[in-house]
Amino acid sequence: MKIDRARAQKAFADYAAHYNAADAKVKLKIDHTYRVAALCARIAQSLALPPEDVDLAWLSGILHDVGRFEQLRRYNTFIDAQSVSHAALSVAVLFDEGRIRDYLDDAGADALLRTAVEWHSAFRLPEALDDRTRLFCQILRDADKIDILRVNVETPMEEIYNVSTAALRRSPVTPAVLDAFYAHHCVLHSLKQYPADNAVGHASLVFELCYPESLRIVDEQGWLWRLLDFKTDNPDTAAAFAAIRHAKVPRGSSLTALLRFLWFFPSYRFFLLLCNILYLYYR
Ligand SMILES: [Fe+2]
Repeated sequence: MKIDRARAQKAFADYAAHYNAADAKVKLKIDHTYRVAALCARIAQSLALPPEDVDLAWLSGILHDVGRFEQLRRYNTFIDAQSVSHAALSVAVLFDEGRIRDYLDDAGADALLRTAVEWHSAFRLPEALDDRTRLFCQILRDADKIDILRVNVETPMEEIYNVSTAALRRSPVTPAVLDAFYAHHCVLHSLKQYPADNAVGHASLVFELCYPESLRIVDEQGWLWRLLDFKTDNPDTAAAFAAIRHAKVPRGSSLTALLRFLWFFPSYRFFLLLCNILYLYYR
């Protein structure tokens, strides 16, 4: 399948132009979309996928948050729990309204793209996915998680979560959110009670990245560490973030050490090769 990137990018730009780009929240989602698409392509390339699949991964990034614009227009929030599932809205815009045909004529990848968009922000992927669909879902989810770290540093949390600076600075952290972080998995949205929970929740995203290239990018970009440098007047929250910055992860290494360790692997394939060699040597 041949994807015309220029056409797809123009289709996205034309769609987004219906919304007010002077609104910081609209601009944020436009910029996020382009970065996620580029990250999808980079991760796909690191997996040595053929060029047409690199383009398909890129396209999934362009499409994934199309529903954010309608979510913002209708509800003036990006919080799904207070409005609507933005992933479901993306699916509705693209596949129920048929706008997907603005991006490409070939319908051969519609089912895969629909699934990737639909599940991009879900807590877990469904079990019953074929290998190829799972691969594209995971690439998109990794790319989205990586850029969410950046968005949460670059954009004031007050703006993203509609919260005052005072509330943010006195915010505690919910114990169940800290438990999820120390269990090394993503934090369920339903567990979050306070504004500071969002920073812990987003830091926990790195535990569920699937590909070594994704960890390399997180280390390279440095947004994770800036996110964890959380400004607070609440002594308990300050202590919680200090502990997280020095959190131990499996294998007894710190988060930094794990990221640096994986950075040295030039590709996922090399990583698998090394595992195979070690297995053959020690079995
Ligand atoms: Fe999203």
